[in-house]
Amino acid sequence: MFSLRRTIVVLLCLVSPSLSQISVLKPAFGVNGMVSSSDSIATAVGVRIMKEGGNAVDAAVAAGFVLAVTYPQAGNLGGGGYYMIHLANGKDYAIDARETAPAAASRNMYIDSTGSVDDAEELVGGLSVGVPGNVDGLILAERKFGKLSLRKVMEPAIALAKKGFRVNERLASDFKHAFDLFKKFPSTMKYFSKNDTTFRVGDLVVQKDLAKVLRKIAAQGRDGFYGGQIPELIAKEDQATGGVITAKDVEDYHAVVREPISVTYHGCQVLSMPPSSSGGVCLAEILNILEHFDLAKYGYGASQSLHYELEAMRRAFADRDKYLGDVDFVNVPLKRLLSKAYADSLASKIDPFSATPSIDIYPDLIHPMKEGTHTTHYSVIDREGNAVSVTTTLNSYFGSMVVVDGAGFFLNNEMDDFSAKPGTPNQFGAIGATANSIMAGKRMLSSMTPTIVLKDGHPYLVLGSPGGTKIINAVLQVLLNVIDYHMPLAEAEMVGRVHMQWVPDKVFYEPGALVYDVKENLASRGYTLEEVQQIGEVQAILVTPKGFEGVADPRGAGDAQGY
Ligand code: DON
Repeated sequence: MFSLRRTIVVLLCLVSPSLSQISVLKPAFGVNGMVSSSDSIATAVGVRIMKEGGNAVDAAVAAGFVLAVTYPQAGNLGGGGYYMIHLANGKDYAIDARETAPAAASRNMYIDSTGSVDDAEELVGGLSVGVPGNVDGLILAERKFGKLSLRKVMEPAIALAKKGFRVNERLASDFKHAFDLFKKFPSTMKYFSKNDTTFRVGDLVVQKDLAKVLRKIAAQGRDGFYGGQIPELIAKEDQATGGVITAKDVEDYHAVVREPISVTYHGCQVLSMPPSSSGGVCLAEILNILEHFDLAKYGYGASQSLHYELEAMRRAFADRDKYLGDVDFVNVPLKRLLSKAYADSLASKIDPFSATPSIDIYPDLIHPMKEGTHTTHYSVIDREGNAVSVTTTLNSYFGSMVVVDGAGFFLNNEMDDFSAKPGTPNQFGAIGATANSIMAGKRMLSSMTPTIVLKDGHPYLVLGSPGGTKIINAVLQVLLNVIDYHMPLAEAEMVGRVHMQWVPDKVFYEPGALVYDVKENLASRGYTLEEVQQIGEVQAILVTPKGFEGVADPRGAGDAQGY
């Protein structure tokens, strides 16, 4: 899944951290607008829409629909997403377009006769699918905050679906990896194979049925997807592949506008996603704890900074798993978790020299770790000062692997983000408690963390990432690199990252992220270290006195463009 560019970058990181990195990655620059996304076509479309008079929301919605065509691994009509929006008039909104459990879902639906969780059912095929929410989120964002018409912002996606786009290296590789699972579903093979083999680099992917669905949405808005024939088609495909979604589940779906999580950090205001995502709460809790420590004094990558970062992550993730779930269904002690007083008490319990064993935090929930990938983030800003930060996903790449016959889009496998059995890990190793147990109509807990940092009330940093539970810490570290370690954005994105999520009680680190003595030092404090290929893929924009800098994370194949 790694591009050549990524490999080169990692090698350079290993050889000589700072100088070579800065020379490799130059931020895009613009004064009128900027888009940073995982896909160069989506980025170009977002910029074009702003040049044609759209604002950042129009650009984000246009890019979102394009991603559903050109980035089928994660861009979607059949998944969910979160939209963090700061308007130039000073107002902030969080749109929760997360999938919901179908009406026929129940708490123990993935538990087999031996009392274990059936991973296969939870990850592949119809039973893994949550009721899609992303289209309602896109439409809601456009209707409430866009300047142009839905029809106008959807034109590029419709044209790309109808005329086709060329498969790039990353998509070809992802198709190849998923192909054995595609073979389980005839409709997936119908749309996403070529003479029974995978699409290769340079192949043209034409999606006529998808173009029809997009045209319906452009013409009818919400009713084009949540009314008419589409709910029937989704239900039919889902049930044919083992699921329980009905047309009524789809018709009843509604995205929700929520109050963003807002926390101050070193004089900035950090806005992020409230539950049903855990992203904003965890980020806020970690930042509140870290404000007690002088990270800038120790510096990036120093054992002491890492120690405090890891201990703050550990505590926030413990609270994630214990308390967080869909606030429309369970009581989450948000006020307490977000308070500075709570952070004071957590910070005071951090031993300055030794790791706290995770088991000492909440001894009643523990497990092994599994891995998985694919979500996508994009950040947009315009010259008026509107900023949009969107993370959207099918969960694993290509979601449940099921494509809706007659409509041509993948369905998510987001049900895996529920705690199928409290204490049993999902694909990201998150365990959760009853707060995140399955209930009909409930949203499964997410880690998506679309974030906007304001300075003096104006956008300063717009960012987010894919990566399951690693999302939160990827976003955190880019933010710390900019605010505490004063790095330019390109460097802030390039340098290595670490990840700790309470359980498993391990520190995951990227190649080159920890130098030899730091590894020794952390081990002596009681940390267990494990190298992983990648932590997140952050798409970010920084506002500087000269203009906008945009950086697409070199860990991916994305693109930032300004004008
Ligand atoms: O909502 C969540 O937290 C996950 N479903 C996100 C999945 C993800 O980021 C996979 N990507 N790498």
